Amino acid sequence: MLAIFAAALSLLACFPATTLDAWLSVETALASLKIKSNIGTTGGPVDSAAVLASPSTADPDYFYQWIRDSAITYKVIIAQEPAGYNSLVQSWIAEMTKLQHVDNPSGGFDTGGLGEPKHSSTLLPPTFQGDWGRPQADGPALRATAMIQYCQKYLKTDGSSKTYISDTIWPIVKADLHYVATYWKSQSFDLWEEVKGTHFFTMMVQRRALIEGIQFAKDNNDNSSASIFTTIAAEMEDSLYSFWSSSKGYIIATQNSSRSGLDCGTLLGSVHGNGRTGYGLFQPSDEKVLVTLQAFVDSFKHLYNINANANGIACGRYPEDVYDGISKSRGNPWYLCTTIVAESLYTANFEFTKAKSVNVTAANVKFFQQFFDKAEPGRSYSSDSQEFKHIVDGISNYADTFLDVVRQFSARNGSLSEEFDRNTGEPRGARDLTWSYAALISAKMARDGMVLP
Ligand SMILES: *[C@@H]1O[C@H](CO)[C@@H](O)[C@H](O)[C@H]1NC(C)=O
Ligand SMILES: *[C@@H]1O[C@H](CO)[C@@H](O)[C@H](O)[C@H]1NC(C)=O
Ligand SMILES: *[C@@H]1O[C@H](CO)[C@@H](O)[C@H](O)[C@H]1NC(C)=O
Ligand SMILES: *[C@@H]1O[C@H](CO)[C@@H](O)[C@H](O)[C@H]1NC(C)=O
Repeated sequence: MLAIFAAALSLLACFPATTLDAWLSVETALASLKIKSNIGTTGGPVDSAAVLASPSTADPDYFYQWIRDSAITYKVIIAQEPAGYNSLVQSWIAEMTKLQHVDNPSGGFDTGGLGEPKHSSTLLPPTFQGDWGRPQADGPALRATAMIQYCQKYLKTDGSSKTYISDTIWPIVKADLHYVATYWKSQSFDLWEEVKGTHFFTMMVQRRALIEGIQFAKDNNDNSSASIFTTIAAEMEDSLYSFWSSSKGYIIATQNSSRSGLDCGTLLGSVHGNGRTGYGLFQPSDEKVLVTLQAFVDSFKHLYNINANANGIACGRYPEDVYDGISKSRGNPWYLCTTIVAESLYTANFEFTKAKSVNVTAANVKFFQQFFDKAEPGRSYSSDSQEFKHIVDGISNYADTFLDVVRQFSARNGSLSEEFDRNTGEPRGARDLTWSYAALISAKMARDGMVLP
């Protein structure tokens, strides 16, 4: 592996910043290796399948595993890697069985402990005990989705696979989904670990996990769980509509928050709450998601100095952000919040192509006119028309500009940290952030028409 690593690095050194295509193929290969080097059993510094958020141990100390970041990372590993990574994924699954049963400051196994967001990297109890924004109710949902994805992709539903699913995976998923079903109305911290409330991202990934859990429960002869998941998923759908603010003209990230409500978590919620299948609510091609994306991007245009000259717009978590990577001062753009704009747009194109049409409405006409100035509300452009091609090509080129921002402002050696400086574009915050690498890979997969399951 080290040899490949060195080869990828030397390629980057020889051909720095050529075309986006060339950069993406080298950079995503490097990103895969970087992810593995943040996981103990594949080369990282701890002897476990835990995903370290970053190898950084000070300023900031991210040498922990977060349930959310790990699940998002395993989703990418499972989607991208051939079955050769079975043993890694199965080690993680075995560790999660244990971790679910370790009492922590959020509670015990069936008293809320599954909402604990952050654990030690070694799995040794006691896990992380310090003050933190807890609970965070997105982790169990994302973990359930990753495990169901693994079963669907690699495991046969007969013989030993079937026993492994029913005896090992289903108990973890069942506990996570019942946690979601029990606590979804209770306030929890957002994905940035700052605001206690009711969040779009959290509920979108929860709803998706429950919907996927319905069939999974039935397959495991648990009709009573399936019926609970069905009921709660429908209730969530009703609640999710209330995140649309007609006065603001976009989806807000958190109910009753004093912020603008524009937040990268909303795009992450649309993408991770739908995946390739799409669960019919706030999908990336939805008119409300498209206008929210545009408002989100526009909020950063004049906020960061680097956007004045860059080919594309660097985006942060939310415009009011003051976290600079270590302390509170002035917020910076984040790699994963810039790549999610691209991923969301490529996924919208994937959905337009699947639906064989783009429908222009009064709400989204301005969005489409950026790419096709004659777009008219009330018109539907079918996939065999020139107009359709014009629109999806325009969206695709626009999406590329966000990845090009990442290309411009990544370190020369290809490393992606958490953030990059709003004035200089230099990498900032935790180095080698695992989620930054996972986010780039999933955006590239969507660009290639292989939207993550
Ligand atoms: C679950 O429901 C299905 C029909 O939806 C039925 O065929 C099956 O027998 C039920 N299983 C159990 C264990 O009740
Ligand atoms: C938000 O505020 C409204 C009006 O005060 C209230 O009815 C609603 O329950 C609040 N929602 C949440 C999720 O706190
Ligand atoms: C556009 O509208 C048609 C007709 O209602 C529908 O079949 C199609 O799925 C819609 N396309 C998209 C991308 O939503
Ligand atoms: C890559 O570059 C960054 C930023 O210049 C630096 O901090 C880091 O140590 C380098 N990583 C490697 C593996 O050389």
